[in-house]
Amino acid sequence: MRSNLNVVVLHGSPRKGMNSDTLAEHLLRGLSERGEHKVTHFYTNEMEIKPCQGCLHCASSPGHGCATIDDMQQIYRAYREADLIVWATPMYWGYMTAQLKAVQDRMEALSWEGFEGKTFAVLITYRYHCQSAVGMFERIAPHFKISLHTVTCCTYDHEMRRDLPISACEEELEQTYQLGRKLGEI
Ligand SMILES: Cc1cc2nc3c(=O)[nH]c(=O)nc-3n(C[C@H](O)[C@H](O)[C@H](O)COP(=O)(O)O)c2cc1C
Repeated sequence: MRSNLNVVVLHGSPRKGMNSDTLAEHLLRGLSERGEHKVTHFYTNEMEIKPCQGCLHCASSPGHGCATIDDMQQIYRAYREADLIVWATPMYWGYMTAQLKAVQDRMEALSWEGFEGKTFAVLITYRYHCQSAVGMFERIAPHFKISLHTVTCCTYDHEMRRDLPISACEEELEQTYQLGRKLGEI
């Protein structure tokens, strides 16, 4: 069955087109085989997104709007309309990048209304570990009724002590492509 999904891709890496972006590309390739999807990319490194100020204006304002007006407004709009959110990020010091973490914190405004019921594809590249970021998504998924799909990919050769090109991670690239095909059938 072919479907038409509304897809938002949140790119966390400042390295456009590199490891985590390549995983996202493979997911989208799989998806595209299953329908005509609307895909909106947000390269967070290129956006003006201020960190959450913790004012909790969103808790009480009509429509739970955020008091800070910047590029995050584009993400709020796209998120509300999306079926599938792709979180593509490298690990930076134990978590997603600061660029994507700022987006996540600002999603506090959506947590009151509009955050739940989405499908998440979480794509993480790393050298040593990724469980702290994966664990966060696993923890929030049941609460927000999120259908969670995760691919993690180690881009480091521990024996040789060097980074690998993402093209060497054939298994994970295939897994991500297959995930795209599967999600396209929803
Ligand atoms: C500033 C910085 C911090 C990093 N911190 C971690 C880390 O805490 N854990 C880890 O496993 N890899 C870490 N890495 C490695 C990257 O996550 C890894 O190389 C990733 O594949 C890069 O993805 P990208 O090409 O999409 O940017 C770090 C890399 C950089 C540049």
